[in-house]
Amino acid sequence: MKGLILSGGHGTRLRPLTHTGPKQLIPIANKPVLFYAIEDLKEAGVTDIGLILGTNMPEKVKEAVGDGSKFGVNITYILQGEPKGLAHAVAVAHEFIGDESFIMYLGDNILKSGINEFVEGFQDSDYQARILLQQVENPKQFGVAELDQRGQVLNLVEKPKKPRSNLALVGIYLFKSSIFEAISNIKPSWRDELEITDAIQELLNSQLKVDSHVVKGWWKDTGKPEDVLDANHLILDVLKPINNGKIEEGAKISGRVSIGNNTIVKKDSVIRGPVIIGENCEIATYIGPYTSIGDNSRITGGEIESSIVMGDAVIECDERIVDSLIGNHCQIVSGENNLPKGRRFVIGENSLINL
Ligand code: TTP
Repeated sequence: MKGLILSGGHGTRLRPLTHTGPKQLIPIANKPVLFYAIEDLKEAGVTDIGLILGTNMPEKVKEAVGDGSKFGVNITYILQGEPKGLAHAVAVAHEFIGDESFIMYLGDNILKSGINEFVEGFQDSDYQARILLQQVENPKQFGVAELDQRGQVLNLVEKPKKPRSNLALVGIYLFKSSIFEAISNIKPSWRDELEITDAIQELLNSQLKVDSHVVKGWWKDTGKPEDVLDANHLILDVLKPINNGKIEEGAKISGRVSIGNNTIVKKDSVIRGPVIIGENCEIATYIGPYTSIGDNSRITGGEIESSIVMGDAVIECDERIVDSLIGNHCQIVSGENNLPKGRRFVIGENSLINL
Protein backbone atom coordinates (compact mmCIF):
# COMPACT_ATOMS: atom_id res chain seq x y z
CA MET A 1 0.00 0.00 0.00
CA LYS A 2 1.25 3.50 -0.85
CA GLY A 3 0.64 6.84 0.82
CA LEU A 4 -0.34 10.15 -0.73
CA ILE A 5 -0.10 13.33 1.34
CA LEU A 6 -1.61 16.53 -0.03
CA SER A 7 0.55 19.52 0.71
CA GLY A 8 -0.66 21.92 -1.99
CA GLY A 9 -3.52 24.42 -1.69
CA HIS A 10 -3.50 28.18 -1.18
CA GLY A 11 -4.09 28.30 2.58
CA THR A 12 -5.96 31.60 2.20
CA ARG A 13 -7.68 31.20 5.56
CA LEU A 14 -4.32 31.14 7.30
CA ARG A 15 -2.97 34.38 5.85
CA PRO A 16 -0.71 36.15 6.66
CA LEU A 17 1.13 33.04 7.94
CA THR A 18 0.84 31.45 4.50
CA HIS A 19 2.41 34.50 2.79
CA THR A 20 5.78 33.12 3.84
CA GLY A 21 5.25 29.38 3.49
CA PRO A 22 2.77 26.58 3.02
CA LYS A 23 0.34 25.96 5.86
CA GLN A 24 1.45 22.36 6.20
CA LEU A 25 4.69 23.64 7.78
CA ILE A 26 2.93 25.56 10.56
CA PRO A 27 4.20 24.02 13.80
CA ILE A 28 1.90 22.26 16.23
CA ALA A 29 3.80 21.73 19.50
CA ASN A 30 6.95 22.81 17.62
CA LYS A 31 6.57 20.24 14.82
CA PRO A 32 5.18 20.98 11.33
CA VAL A 33 1.64 19.64 11.02
CA LEU A 34 2.72 17.70 7.89
CA PHE A 35 5.18 15.62 9.93
CA TYR A 36 2.32 14.10 11.95
CA ALA A 37 0.82 12.71 8.73
CA ILE A 38 4.16 11.24 7.63
CA GLU A 39 4.61 9.63 11.07
CA ASP A 40 1.08 8.17 11.03
CA LEU A 41 1.71 6.59 7.62
CA LYS A 42 5.05 5.19 8.74
CA GLU A 43 3.44 3.73 11.86
CA ALA A 44 0.81 2.04 9.69
CA GLY A 45 3.65 0.42 7.72
CA VAL A 46 3.33 2.71 4.68
CA THR A 47 6.79 3.86 3.63
CA ASP A 48 6.38 4.66 -0.07
CA ILE A 49 4.82 8.11 0.09
CA GLY A 50 3.94 10.60 -2.65
CA LEU A 51 3.88 14.22 -1.47
CA ILE A 52 1.71 16.58 -3.51
CA LEU A 53 3.18 20.07 -3.83
CA GLY A 54 1.34 23.25 -4.75
CA THR A 55 2.51 26.67 -5.85
CA ASN A 56 3.03 28.27 -2.42
CA MET A 57 6.77 27.87 -1.83
CA PRO A 58 6.93 24.10 -2.43
CA GLU A 59 10.72 24.25 -2.00
CA LYS A 60 10.16 24.87 1.73
CA VAL A 61 8.33 21.54 2.02
CA LYS A 62 11.18 19.79 0.18
CA GLU A 63 13.73 21.40 2.47
CA ALA A 64 11.83 20.35 5.60
CA VAL A 65 11.02 16.78 4.59
CA GLY A 66 13.99 15.89 2.35
CA ASP A 67 13.96 12.38 0.92
CA GLY A 68 12.02 11.10 3.92
CA SER A 69 14.92 9.12 5.39
CA LYS A 70 14.75 10.99 8.71
CA PHE A 71 11.24 9.54 9.10
CA GLY A 72 12.23 6.11 7.77
CA VAL A 73 10.13 6.56 4.60
CA ASN A 74 10.71 7.23 0.88
CA ILE A 75 9.25 10.47 -0.39
CA THR A 76 8.41 11.09 -4.05
CA TYR A 77 7.46 14.70 -4.82
CA ILE A 78 4.56 15.22 -7.20
CA LEU A 79 3.84 18.72 -8.48
CA GLN A 80 0.16 19.56 -8.69
CA GLY A 81 0.60 23.29 -9.26
CA GLU A 82 -2.61 25.33 -8.93
CA PRO A 83 -5.03 23.71 -6.45
CA LYS A 84 -7.77 22.37 -8.69
CA GLY A 85 -9.28 20.16 -6.02
CA LEU A 86 -8.51 17.09 -3.91
CA ALA A 87 -9.53 14.71 -6.71
CA HIS A 88 -7.29 16.61 -9.13
CA ALA A 89 -4.36 16.12 -6.72
CA VAL A 90 -5.11 12.37 -6.70
CA ALA A 91 -5.30 12.29 -10.51
CA VAL A 92 -1.83 13.86 -10.90
CA ALA A 93 -0.45 11.09 -8.66
CA HIS A 94 -1.76 8.28 -10.94
CA GLU A 95 1.68 7.36 -12.28
CA PHE A 96 3.15 7.22 -8.76
CA ILE A 97 0.30 5.08 -7.36
CA GLY A 98 0.01 2.73 -10.35
CA ASP A 99 -2.38 -0.16 -9.58
CA GLU A 100 -1.84 -0.19 -5.81
CA SER A 101 -4.21 0.63 -2.98
CA PHE A 102 -3.32 3.85 -1.23
CA ILE A 103 -4.02 6.09 1.76
CA MET A 104 -4.68 9.71 0.99
CA TYR A 105 -3.92 12.03 3.90
CA LEU A 106 -4.58 15.79 3.85
CA GLY A 107 -1.33 17.39 4.96
CA ASP A 108 -3.03 19.86 7.30
CA ASN A 109 -5.05 17.24 9.19
CA ILE A 110 -4.07 15.71 12.49
CA LEU A 111 -5.56 12.67 14.13
CA LYS A 112 -5.14 11.63 17.75
CA SER A 113 -4.81 7.90 17.48
CA GLY A 114 -3.11 7.39 14.14
CA ILE A 115 -4.46 5.31 11.27
CA ASN A 116 -3.40 1.70 12.02
CA GLU A 117 -6.86 0.51 12.97
CA PHE A 118 -8.40 2.23 9.95
CA VAL A 119 -6.11 0.53 7.43
CA GLU A 120 -6.72 -3.05 8.66
CA GLY A 121 -8.41 -5.40 6.23
CA PHE A 122 -8.91 -2.87 3.41
CA GLN A 123 -6.49 -4.25 0.84
CA ASP A 124 -8.04 -7.73 0.78
CA SER A 125 -11.64 -6.51 0.88
CA ASP A 126 -13.86 -5.83 -2.11
CA TYR A 127 -14.38 -2.24 -0.97
CA GLN A 128 -13.10 0.33 -3.46
CA ALA A 129 -12.82 3.08 -0.87
CA ARG A 130 -12.95 3.48 2.88
CA ILE A 131 -13.70 6.87 4.39
CA LEU A 132 -13.06 8.15 7.87
CA LEU A 133 -15.92 9.98 9.57
CA GLN A 134 -16.49 11.94 12.73
CA GLN A 135 -19.62 13.26 14.35
CA VAL A 136 -19.69 17.05 14.20
CA GLU A 137 -22.07 19.71 15.46
CA ASN A 138 -22.03 21.77 12.26
CA PRO A 139 -22.25 19.27 9.35
CA LYS A 140 -23.18 22.02 6.86
CA GLN A 141 -19.51 23.05 6.81
CA PHE A 142 -18.18 19.60 5.83
CA GLY A 143 -18.51 16.77 3.34
CA VAL A 144 -21.22 14.63 4.92
CA ALA A 145 -21.93 10.88 4.54
CA GLU A 146 -25.18 8.98 4.85
CA LEU A 147 -24.69 5.35 5.93
CA ASP A 148 -26.81 2.21 6.06
CA GLN A 149 -27.04 0.14 9.28
CA ARG A 150 -23.83 -1.79 8.44
CA GLY A 151 -21.75 1.38 8.01
CA GLN A 152 -21.70 1.15 4.21
CA VAL A 153 -21.85 4.52 2.53
CA LEU A 154 -25.09 5.35 0.70
CA ASN A 155 -24.17 8.83 -0.48
CA LEU A 156 -21.88 11.79 0.11
CA VAL A 157 -22.64 15.49 -0.16
CA GLU A 158 -20.13 18.34 0.04
CA LYS A 159 -21.31 21.11 2.45
CA PRO A 160 -25.00 20.12 2.31
CA LYS A 161 -27.72 22.74 2.97
CA LYS A 162 -29.85 20.01 4.62
CA PRO A 163 -27.41 17.42 6.04
CA ARG A 164 -28.82 13.88 6.27
CA SER A 165 -26.40 12.99 9.08
CA ASN A 166 -23.87 14.64 11.36
CA LEU A 167 -21.04 12.42 10.09
CA ALA A 168 -18.36 14.59 8.50
CA LEU A 169 -15.53 13.34 6.31
CA VAL A 170 -12.17 13.39 8.03
CA GLY A 171 -9.29 14.23 5.64
CA ILE A 172 -8.00 10.66 5.37
CA TYR A 173 -9.21 8.16 2.77
CA LEU A 174 -8.30 4.69 1.52
CA PHE A 175 -8.68 3.95 -2.17
CA LYS A 176 -8.14 1.21 -4.71
CA SER A 177 -6.98 2.26 -8.15
CA SER A 178 -10.62 2.30 -9.39
CA ILE A 179 -10.73 5.87 -8.01
CA PHE A 180 -8.75 7.09 -11.04
CA GLU A 181 -11.50 6.09 -13.46
CA ALA A 182 -14.12 7.63 -11.16
CA ILE A 183 -12.14 10.91 -11.15
CA SER A 184 -11.96 10.88 -14.96
CA ASN A 185 -15.78 10.78 -15.00
CA ILE A 186 -16.48 13.78 -12.75
CA LYS A 187 -16.75 17.47 -13.62
CA PRO A 188 -15.48 20.46 -11.62
CA SER A 189 -17.89 21.66 -8.93
CA TRP A 190 -19.41 25.15 -8.51
CA ARG A 191 -16.10 26.25 -6.93
CA ASP A 192 -14.27 24.93 -10.01
CA GLU A 193 -12.56 22.09 -8.16
CA LEU A 194 -12.55 18.35 -8.79
CA GLU A 195 -14.10 17.20 -5.52
CA ILE A 196 -13.04 13.93 -3.91
CA THR A 197 -16.59 13.55 -2.55
CA ASP A 198 -17.90 13.58 -6.15
CA ALA A 199 -15.34 10.94 -7.14
CA ILE A 200 -16.43 8.69 -4.23
CA GLN A 201 -20.07 9.30 -5.13
CA GLU A 202 -19.15 8.23 -8.68
CA LEU A 203 -17.86 4.90 -7.27
CA LEU A 204 -21.21 4.45 -5.50
CA ASN A 205 -23.12 5.35 -8.68
CA SER A 206 -21.19 2.55 -10.45
CA GLN A 207 -22.44 0.07 -7.76
CA LEU A 208 -18.93 -0.18 -6.23
CA LYS A 209 -18.76 -0.58 -2.48
CA VAL A 210 -17.48 2.07 -0.07
CA ASP A 211 -17.27 1.49 3.67
CA SER A 212 -16.64 3.82 6.57
CA HIS A 213 -14.97 4.02 9.92
CA VAL A 214 -16.00 6.45 12.64
CA VAL A 215 -13.02 8.04 14.40
CA LYS A 216 -13.15 7.78 18.18
CA GLY A 217 -10.36 10.11 19.32
CA TRP A 218 -10.09 13.74 18.23
CA TRP A 219 -9.39 14.90 14.70
CA LYS A 220 -8.43 18.43 13.63
CA ASP A 221 -8.32 20.08 10.26
CA THR A 222 -5.90 22.97 10.82
CA GLY A 223 -7.30 25.18 8.05
CA LYS A 224 -8.04 28.22 10.25
CA PRO A 225 -6.10 30.01 13.02
CA GLU A 226 -8.44 28.82 15.79
CA ASP A 227 -8.06 25.22 14.54
CA VAL A 228 -4.26 25.53 14.67
CA LEU A 229 -4.49 26.67 18.30
CA ASP A 230 -6.96 23.86 19.11
CA ALA A 231 -4.59 21.29 17.58
CA ASN A 232 -1.76 22.76 19.66
CA HIS A 233 -3.89 22.29 22.81
CA LEU A 234 -4.69 18.70 21.91
CA ILE A 235 -1.08 17.74 21.19
CA LEU A 236 0.26 19.53 24.28
CA ASP A 237 -2.27 17.61 26.36
CA VAL A 238 -0.25 14.45 25.67
CA LEU A 239 3.18 16.11 25.76
CA LYS A 240 6.02 14.08 27.23
CA PRO A 241 8.09 16.45 29.38
CA ILE A 242 11.82 16.46 28.58
CA ASN A 243 14.22 19.02 29.96
CA ASN A 244 17.42 19.58 27.99
CA GLY A 245 17.79 23.22 28.97
CA LYS A 246 19.04 25.17 31.96
CA ILE A 247 16.63 26.29 34.64
CA GLU A 248 17.98 28.96 36.95
CA GLU A 249 17.33 28.76 40.64
CA GLY A 250 14.16 30.65 41.55
CA ALA A 251 12.33 29.83 38.30
CA LYS A 252 9.00 28.10 38.99
CA ILE A 253 8.00 25.28 36.67
CA SER A 254 4.85 23.24 37.10
CA GLY A 255 2.91 20.75 34.99
CA ARG A 256 4.29 19.08 31.87
CA VAL A 257 6.99 21.30 30.38
CA SER A 258 9.46 20.37 27.65
CA ILE A 259 12.58 22.51 27.23
CA GLY A 260 15.03 22.22 24.32
CA ASN A 261 18.83 22.26 24.14
CA ASN A 262 20.64 25.49 25.02
CA THR A 263 17.50 27.14 26.34
CA ILE A 264 17.78 29.17 29.53
CA VAL A 265 14.86 29.75 31.84
CA LYS A 266 15.89 32.71 33.98
CA LYS A 267 15.17 33.17 37.67
CA ASP A 268 11.74 34.73 38.38
CA SER A 269 10.24 33.00 35.33
CA VAL A 270 7.01 31.11 35.87
CA ILE A 271 6.12 28.32 33.46
CA ARG A 272 2.86 26.45 33.85
CA GLY A 273 2.52 23.45 31.58
CA PRO A 274 1.63 22.00 29.31
CA VAL A 275 4.24 24.09 27.51
CA ILE A 276 6.92 23.27 24.95
CA ILE A 277 9.93 25.52 24.46
CA GLY A 278 12.39 24.88 21.60
CA GLU A 279 16.17 25.19 21.41
CA ASN A 280 18.35 28.27 22.01
CA CYS A 281 15.63 30.28 23.73
CA GLU A 282 15.82 32.73 26.60
CA ILE A 283 12.79 32.92 28.85
CA ALA A 284 12.37 35.49 31.59
CA THR A 285 8.65 35.88 32.08
CA TYR A 286 5.37 33.99 32.59
CA ILE A 287 4.51 31.29 30.06
CA GLY A 288 1.07 29.81 30.67
CA PRO A 289 -0.63 26.55 29.71
CA TYR A 290 -0.98 25.38 26.10
CA THR A 291 1.85 27.48 24.72
CA SER A 292 4.48 26.41 22.20
CA ILE A 293 7.60 28.53 21.77
CA GLY A 294 9.77 27.79 18.72
CA ASP A 295 13.58 27.79 18.54
CA ASN A 296 15.77 30.90 18.96
CA SER A 297 13.11 32.99 20.73
CA ARG A 298 13.84 35.55 23.40
CA ILE A 299 10.84 36.12 25.62
CA THR A 300 11.70 38.48 28.40
CA GLY A 301 8.47 40.37 28.86
CA GLY A 302 4.74 40.02 28.56
CA GLU A 303 2.78 37.05 29.75
CA ILE A 304 2.01 34.45 27.12
CA GLU A 305 -0.71 31.86 27.35
CA SER A 306 -2.47 29.45 24.99
CA SER A 307 -0.43 30.61 22.02
CA ILE A 308 2.05 29.52 19.37
CA VAL A 309 5.24 31.53 18.90
CA MET A 310 6.77 29.93 15.82
CA GLY A 311 10.38 30.88 16.38
CA ASP A 312 13.16 33.52 16.16
CA ALA A 313 10.84 35.85 18.08
CA VAL A 314 11.63 38.71 20.42
CA ILE A 315 8.90 39.47 22.94
CA GLU A 316 9.66 42.06 25.56
CA CYS A 317 6.46 44.04 25.96
CA ASP A 318 4.50 44.31 29.18
CA GLU A 319 1.18 43.09 27.80
CA ARG A 320 -0.63 39.80 28.24
CA ILE A 321 -0.68 37.76 25.01
CA VAL A 322 -3.36 35.06 24.71
CA ASP A 323 -4.75 32.76 21.98
CA SER A 324 -2.21 34.12 19.52
CA LEU A 325 -0.36 32.77 16.51
CA ILE A 326 2.93 34.60 16.11
CA GLY A 327 4.89 33.88 12.91
CA ASN A 328 8.65 33.52 12.53
CA HIS A 329 10.96 36.50 13.19
CA CYS A 330 8.30 38.65 14.91
CA GLN A 331 9.09 41.27 17.52
CA ILE A 332 6.65 42.51 20.12
CA VAL A 333 8.22 45.25 22.19
CA SER A 334 7.15 48.25 24.29
CA GLY A 335 8.08 51.84 23.38
CA GLU A 336 10.97 53.55 25.15
CA ASN A 337 8.64 56.04 26.80
CA ASN A 338 4.89 56.39 26.92
CA LEU A 339 4.54 59.72 25.11
CA PRO A 340 2.88 60.28 22.76
CA LYS A 341 0.35 57.57 23.63
CA GLY A 342 -0.33 55.09 20.87
CA ARG A 343 0.60 51.73 19.44
CA ARG A 344 3.16 51.38 16.70
CA PHE A 345 2.65 48.68 14.08
CA VAL A 346 4.60 47.31 11.17
CA ILE A 347 2.22 44.60 10.03
CA GLY A 348 1.65 42.80 6.76
CA GLU A 349 -1.41 42.10 4.70
CA ASN A 350 -4.20 40.03 6.27
CA SER A 351 -2.89 40.44 9.82
CA LEU A 352 -5.30 40.37 12.74
CA ILE A 353 -4.74 42.62 15.75
CA ASN A 354 -7.19 42.46 18.61
CA LEU A 355 -6.50 45.25 21.12
P1 TTP B 1 -8.16 23.10 1.80
O1 TTP B 1 -7.93 23.51 3.21
O2 TTP B 1 -9.54 22.68 1.47
O3 TTP B 1 -7.74 24.23 0.77
P2 TTP B 1 -6.58 25.29 0.84
O4 TTP B 1 -5.31 24.67 1.30
O5 TTP B 1 -6.49 25.92 -0.54
O6 TTP B 1 -6.97 26.35 1.95
P3 TTP B 1 -7.91 27.66 1.89
O7 TTP B 1 -9.31 27.14 1.68
O8 TTP B 1 -7.72 28.29 3.25
O9 TTP B 1 -7.43 28.56 0.78
O10 TTP B 1 -7.19 21.87 1.45
C1 TTP B 1 -7.12 20.71 2.25
C2 TTP B 1 -5.75 20.08 2.13
O11 TTP B 1 -5.51 19.60 0.79
C3 TTP B 1 -4.60 21.02 2.40
O12 TTP B 1 -3.55 20.27 3.01
C4 TTP B 1 -4.17 21.48 1.04
C5 TTP B 1 -4.44 20.28 0.17
N1 TTP B 1 -4.85 20.59 -1.22
C6 TTP B 1 -4.04 20.18 -2.26
O13 TTP B 1 -2.95 19.62 -2.07
N2 TTP B 1 -4.47 20.41 -3.54
C7 TTP B 1 -5.67 21.02 -3.82
O14 TTP B 1 -6.02 21.19 -5.00
C8 TTP B 1 -6.48 21.44 -2.70
C9 TTP B 1 -7.80 22.12 -2.94
C10 TTP B 1 -6.04 21.20 -1.42
